[in-house]
Amino acid sequence: MSLNIHEQLILILDFGSQYAQLIARRVREAGVYCELHHYSLSEADFKALKPKGVSLSGGPESANLAESPRIPAYILNSGLPILGICYGMQTLAEQLGGKVESSPTSEFGYARVEIVGQSPLLHDLEHQVEENQRYYQDVWMSHGDKVTRLPPDFTLIAATASAPIAAMMHQSKPLFGVQFHPEVTHTKAGQQMLNRFVHEICGCARLWTPANIIEDAIASVRRQVGSDQVLLGLSGGVDSSVVAALLHKAIGDQLTCVFVDNGLLRLNEGDQVMQTFASNMGIKVIRANAEDLFLSRLQGVSEPEAKRKIIGRTFIEVFDAEAAKLGEVKWLAQGTIYPDVIESAKAKHGTAQVIKSHHNVGGLPEEMKMGLVEPLRELFKDEVRRIGVELGLPPAMVYRHPFPGPGLGVRVLGEVTKHYCDILRQADHIFIEELRRAGWYDKVSQAFVVFLPIKSVGVVGDARRYSWVLALRAVETIDFMTARWAHLPYELLELVSNRIINEIRDVSRVSYDISSKPPATIEWE
Ligand code: XMP
Repeated sequence: MSLNIHEQLILILDFGSQYAQLIARRVREAGVYCELHHYSLSEADFKALKPKGVSLSGGPESANLAESPRIPAYILNSGLPILGICYGMQTLAEQLGGKVESSPTSEFGYARVEIVGQSPLLHDLEHQVEENQRYYQDVWMSHGDKVTRLPPDFTLIAATASAPIAAMMHQSKPLFGVQFHPEVTHTKAGQQMLNRFVHEICGCARLWTPANIIEDAIASVRRQVGSDQVLLGLSGGVDSSVVAALLHKAIGDQLTCVFVDNGLLRLNEGDQVMQTFASNMGIKVIRANAEDLFLSRLQGVSEPEAKRKIIGRTFIEVFDAEAAKLGEVKWLAQGTIYPDVIESAKAKHGTAQVIKSHHNVGGLPEEMKMGLVEPLRELFKDEVRRIGVELGLPPAMVYRHPFPGPGLGVRVLGEVTKHYCDILRQADHIFIEELRRAGWYDKVSQAFVVFLPIKSVGVVGDARRYSWVLALRAVETIDFMTARWAHLPYELLELVSNRIINEIRDVSRVSYDISSKPPATIEWE
């Protein structure tokens, strides 16, 4: 019997905090499998999960209102270890007989908490600061309300001036609450606190490692598909690349990949995908050269949503036609990852406004009536990257910036033509090359060039140049939901701009995008 890496599971109950996914990522970093579920999780589902411990996330509500979200009674009565974070601590306190009050001022940012007494969670952590025989930790606080009275049988384990009950624990049961956020890296010993909770308090081992994840995924894919054929839309992006490498390892020649070259890719990208997967790894990859088809469909269309829809539809059409040539294939593999699963579960609990209709290789034809193989469904992006490297994919590919499904189609503003795409490809190549050379590529989360359909006047030598304008975009972000424009050095911007204008005849001007998200988005369309 091989190892069951899902056996020791931590349940993270989501009360709506922007940091809930971060808790899950930190628990995974501790080498423990965890799942994030809405706080309304049913008792039957809870029992099926068989968690070894529960962490309660923060949330935007006030715990002292009658209608506030609550920890289900079956969890409180389960006897399992519980770690409440921020709102999670407040509702834990309130539900067990303590008191929570709204503060007139909210506390946001660094705080130095005093560690009080001895607790299995907070005693003697790394980064501890000692002053006059009192012990402190630097943590990240973000709250309005706070616990003002401990529930019966609880002890204080940390305090600050503005949150005198900054952490608490039960005297005999494994129940803990922290007002601060251990999941945020600003809390210096935060990972160690979570490690202690999952390893020492919940008793989970480090089973969730890249090698074990791969072994487990291989076994489950083999169980699922037997000797059937599997089809995968390979885009060259991280997720589909890792799926390709994983499936190839699991089922070898039963896997066929279709790579749709839509003409909206970066410089030499199509050849690189073929080189990596077909030539180097020996994976069966069919390359569908569909540049002409995509560009003809996009002719005369300038509205961003219309372009996205055309690209999405055309992709499916081409993919479908290639798939049909293969005869009967029962399974379709997709690079769905855990955040996608969380997002679609969340959509059931609320309504999300569509800002852009995303197109991914993943969003494939329901009418294809194939079973789905989704070997990355449980993984966060950083875990996908780690297993990609473990599977032998080139690190430069695995750690590449994200690239949108519609590709240059949404980076050439307005109408898309081959000429504009060619200009953009060259400029983008220069920008990325210089970022890498200057050591900035890995410091920014995403960088690219945008083609603006406007002409401006310039002078080159003695001649007038009336040609196109480009914008450079580079952002820093953790989750791509919010982003700050990257403060690239002026010298680097100057070098890139000079190279672009000197090397590409049809460009007269380069600008740098200094908009944050929100209110701007990362891509321009
Ligand atoms: P925005 O522009 O919405 O982008 O701030 C957030 C992130 O999503 C990427 N993006 C896409 N990714 N299919 C994708 O797979 C798409 O249609 C798509 N549109 C935007 C964007 O590059 C950024 O990383």
